[in-house]
Amino acid sequence: MGMLEFLYSQLLVTPVYPTTSCAGQTIIVTGSNSGLGKEAARHFARLGASKIILAVRNIKAGEAAKYDIENTTRCNAAVIEVWPLDLASYQSIKLFATRASDLPRLDILLENAGIATHDWEIVQGIGHERTIAINVISTFFLAILMLPKLKSSAKEFGIQPRLTIVSSEVHAWTKFPEWKAPNTFDALNKQSKTTFSERYPTSKLLEILLLRKIAPALEGSGVILNALSPGLCHSELAREGNPFLTFLKFFFARTTEMGSRTLVIAAMAGSESHGNYMHNGKVENTALSPFVRSNDGEKASEKVWDELSTILESIQPGVTGNL
Ligand SMILES: NC(=O)c1ccc[n+]([C@@H]2O[C@H](COP(=O)([O-])OP(=O)(O)OC[C@H]3O[C@@H](n4cnc5c(N)ncnc54)[C@H](OP(=O)(O)O)[C@@H]3O)[C@@H](O)[C@H]2O)c1
Repeated sequence: MGMLEFLYSQLLVTPVYPTTSCAGQTIIVTGSNSGLGKEAARHFARLGASKIILAVRNIKAGEAAKYDIENTTRCNAAVIEVWPLDLASYQSIKLFATRASDLPRLDILLENAGIATHDWEIVQGIGHERTIAINVISTFFLAILMLPKLKSSAKEFGIQPRLTIVSSEVHAWTKFPEWKAPNTFDALNKQSKTTFSERYPTSKLLEILLLRKIAPALEGSGVILNALSPGLCHSELAREGNPFLTFLKFFFARTTEMGSRTLVIAAMAGSESHGNYMHNGKVENTALSPFVRSNDGEKASEKVWDELSTILESIQPGVTGNL
């Protein structure tokens, strides 16, 4: 997306206010104690969801979000539950997924949690740089662990469960030289000032490359897998001092509520969204970067999925069989 399209989208497009009922649905929103995730959860509560699980790493902040959403939507106190989920810990992800597999049904897994940091750090116990660990490896580990529940919900209830990943238009704002390295995830673990400045966009690009590779394997399962860009929105995302994001937000950001509409729309989108990218609440693969749509992008999808599969199998042997 060029600068003109970005400005047009930020300043002149208003995503549609969601009105479709969520009655009877069970919905998980990761990273829902703040920002877009919290506002998306508020929409789901307003739209009558039966159960909304706020999957958060800080229970106190999750409880505060629950209280706030209940107060503004007047939803029944039994609707919202706060469950611990720390994407910086495989153990936490496994515990969360085991607990969630006991849910009677799962209609939506909205994978929203993510970070944008300026500080290099390897996550202990994961062994990967924090942005890649949280935004990519753990996000897909959770997705793949939850596939059996999503698939069985599709069969048992005749529904089309959604697995929705919150990506970003900044996926286009990286040169991503690491894709040509013998092993991309190893290359991303080597500290380099030049490429680390593009780390957040790279993580968002990886989400899209991986989604495009995985989606065909889910054809016929009933599960809809899609990704979206919410546009630039006010939230806590720049809290770790990403000066570029802070600067852009000051001038161009949407309100958090307005941005969260795009999450809700994608999480309720039909099969036309499967394997696709949604922008401003519409399926719009033409808004994907030229790299994603190129032959090299296709090769990169294949390569990073092969590598991620190896990583996931080393965390939990057999897990990729869930696909
Ligand atoms: N805001 C934008 O302009 C924008 C644009 C495009 C895409 N996005 C994407 O939108 C998503 C939501 O971001 P946001 O803008 O709403 O920012 P935010 O307010 O910072 O929300 C991020 C959420 O992720 C959670 N999180 C971070 N690390 C986690 C971990 N290790 N385990 C579990 N949860 C964790 C945070 O929890 P804590 O509060 O505990 O840290 C928070 O709830 C992200 O994926 C982001 O990349 C945002």
